Amino acid sequence: MTLVLSVIGTGYLGATHAACMSSLGFNVIGVDTDASKIALLAQGQLPFYEPGLEELLQQELASGRLTFSTDFSMLADADVHFICVGTPQKENSLAADLSYVEGSLAALAPHLKPGSLVVGKSTVPVGTAQKLTDILASSAPQADLAWNPEFLREGFAIEDTLRPNRLVVGVTNDRAEEILREVYAPVLELGTPWIRADLPTAELVKVAANSFLATKISFINAMAEICEAAGGDVTVLAKAIGYDPRIGNRFLQAGIGFGGGCLPKDIRAFMARAEELGAKQALEFLREIDAINLRARTRVIDLVRSLLAQDLSSYTIAVLGAAFKPESDDVRDSPALDIAAQLHAAGAKVTVHDPKAMHAAKKRFPALGFAQSVEECLAGADLVLHLTEWREYRELDTAHLKTLVKTPIVIDGRNALDRDTWIKGGWDFHALGRKSL
Ligand code: UGA
Repeated sequence: MTLVLSVIGTGYLGATHAACMSSLGFNVIGVDTDASKIALLAQGQLPFYEPGLEELLQQELASGRLTFSTDFSMLADADVHFICVGTPQKENSLAADLSYVEGSLAALAPHLKPGSLVVGKSTVPVGTAQKLTDILASSAPQADLAWNPEFLREGFAIEDTLRPNRLVVGVTNDRAEEILREVYAPVLELGTPWIRADLPTAELVKVAANSFLATKISFINAMAEICEAAGGDVTVLAKAIGYDPRIGNRFLQAGIGFGGGCLPKDIRAFMARAEELGAKQALEFLREIDAINLRARTRVIDLVRSLLAQDLSSYTIAVLGAAFKPESDDVRDSPALDIAAQLHAAGAKVTVHDPKAMHAAKKRFPALGFAQSVEECLAGADLVLHLTEWREYRELDTAHLKTLVKTPIVIDGRNALDRDTWIKGGWDFHALGRKSL
């Protein structure tokens, strides 16, 4: 008989996982304590933007396999329960807030049927899975626990769930592994590597991967600083080192750095956990990774000041991009929006445009100006900042744009625009880690 699955927490990860597992043919019930989120999902609407996901959600709801509820007792029939709730950074420390993970296990425990498997997917500090196993042993000894970290990227959530580059399962016995192999059988048939690990290793794989990615980005941003000091070009440098397969050319895009709901908080929580474990020194370098990342934002603001004036109060600045990356409406810890807000706080008149993240950006920083189109955003600007590399910004008619602004100065904060095109269009072009021509 086909397994019945549940997904607890229907945010980015959970909504994607629920729709994707349903598309593999399983009956899936998604549960969340947020009634408005559940009501939206049940009507086939997503509370966030992710390419293709709303269509998949509607398709799976129509199939009858996918349902949503706020009632945990509806989970009693499920064989496998995926915990997908958030683990945000705590208010007053670097550590992760585990209250949603612990709360969902407590709500689930009374409904677990004998032989069922609870599978954690949330990103947690190492040691959490063992702690939850101990809790389960007293609250629901009839069930077992496994850890199955998630590596999906926003903007590629469906692809990364159905065709991941690896599946990692932390288990304490063969039966748990067999159940997870059954769940992921269609994904394994594609030749996806399967890695069985113990619980702490599975938890660590996730934060190690995100720390490595963050390190790669900060490394190239450190090289950008050196290029600026020495008169080099970081885009050429990145291309050249990237040909070495040991280095690889991905995640070497220098610019205003990483943001979002994962990389920044994950490296901080990892440092906090290392300290608790008495291994603080091992991750001291992540503090520098974080510092380089935040410095990239300051460097852009310094560049704006050097091009306009120290006192920005009489200047109008157009900001293209608010999301933390393209193909997303997520503005959590977005470097683009942070820079826009800092310029506003420094007295500049800042107008922001983003193809998808306007609503979220406005909610976060209502005092900023918001424009419905690129043309409206650039009208009368003293300087244009390109901060999120949406495709449509690469395809702009630069000569036409020049007629809209007060002074044609552009800073490419993502090293994604074609410099020659902008210079030909009559712009004074600047970018991080590159000489201005
Ligand atoms: C990241 C990881 O890539 C996923 O594997 C992981 O599953 C996810 O976090 C998570 O923990 O849930 P995501 O936050 O969607 O995914 O975003 P990334 O594509 O990793 O980009 C992160 C940030 O780095 C963005 O702000 C992006 O603009 C920036 N970035 C990326 C650069 O500045 N330079 C680059 O070369 C690449």
